Amino acid sequence: MTLSTEYDLHHHGDAEVGPGLVDLAVNVRTGTPPSWLRDRLVASLDDVAAYPDPTRATAAVAARHDRPVEEVVPTAGGAEAFVLLARALRPRHAVVVHPQFTEPEAALRAAGHAVDRVLLDGDLTLDPGAVPESADLVVVGNPTNPTSVRHPAGVLARLARPGRTLVVDEAFIDTAPGEPDSLADRGDLPGLVVLRSLTKTWGLAGLRVGYALAPAGLAEGLRAAAPPWSVSTPALVALEACSGPAARAEADAAARAMAADRDHLLAALRRIGGAEVRATPAASFVLVRTPGRSDVRERLRDRGLAVRRGDTFPGLDAEHVRIAVRAPEVTDRLVGELAEIL
Ligand SMILES: Cc1ncc(COP(=O)(O)O)c(C=O)c1O
Repeated sequence: MTLSTEYDLHHHGDAEVGPGLVDLAVNVRTGTPPSWLRDRLVASLDDVAAYPDPTRATAAVAARHDRPVEEVVPTAGGAEAFVLLARALRPRHAVVVHPQFTEPEAALRAAGHAVDRVLLDGDLTLDPGAVPESADLVVVGNPTNPTSVRHPAGVLARLARPGRTLVVDEAFIDTAPGEPDSLADRGDLPGLVVLRSLTKTWGLAGLRVGYALAPAGLAEGLRAAAPPWSVSTPALVALEACSGPAARAEADAAARAMAADRDHLLAALRRIGGAEVRATPAASFVLVRTPGRSDVRERLRDRGLAVRRGDTFPGLDAEHVRIAVRAPEVTDRLVGELAEIL
């Protein structure tokens, strides 16, 4: 289907990487999945002759977020959740807050829904007043890809109201210790759907696993919209394993280490001229603007470094690149090359 949009909504960071390039484009945590999780996945193969049973994983997620099991829907990643929502809902006025990950809009359009964009500007923070009152579906990312901005929970909560579905994509929320500003536990907010993914923190992009937390009625609609058994047995094993306290402590430790690496990147960027950090970053990547220079991505690529282009995101242009937080030595190489280019 042709999307009626001038942006390539299906472009992703993995298209930027290639042989011989250092990957600063993909936001999956390096060194993942951890060995204990690999072991669990390998062991799960003993059970793949049977159809998957989501009962244990669903219960683990429900316990983690203190929600009834009826409000938990395991999904084949956040990407499947976007498609299920687009199938299950009949919005009269769907609004996607941009710049953000483009698959939610793509899924809505593919299901035949018109999409209205609210474009954030300036420091890319969200003013709830910018979302039209008539919107009966609002999609926002928190923290947002590619801006790395984390919106306060209170600001997002103000968008929830009866008669509206508010979808908050929290694929990157566990990149901060303790998951501040998560709405995952807020079963009390009307129409709130929180989407989570195991892709980034656990290095499971190829496994396809995440979940939706939604009011029971909508959760039932999402289950009905899904193909049978779309979440595999290994994916469900990972979901159960990563919902426990030990995994959460590990994610928190990884988030603390990432924050130190991000400080290193920000300090290095401050020391060079011509590259401005577009917004205060809260996630495992930084959005950088190079005013007057739209060739930075290609020039970095010439020098063996892949960063994520910004111009496929509504509201951004080719003066923007998204840079993944990496170990200090990788960052130093990147910023050194960037300084020479600029
Ligand atoms: C913000 C955001 N949400 C959701 C996803 C989808 O992730 P997955 O389908 O692997 O869970 C991505 C992937 O890049 C993302 O960046």
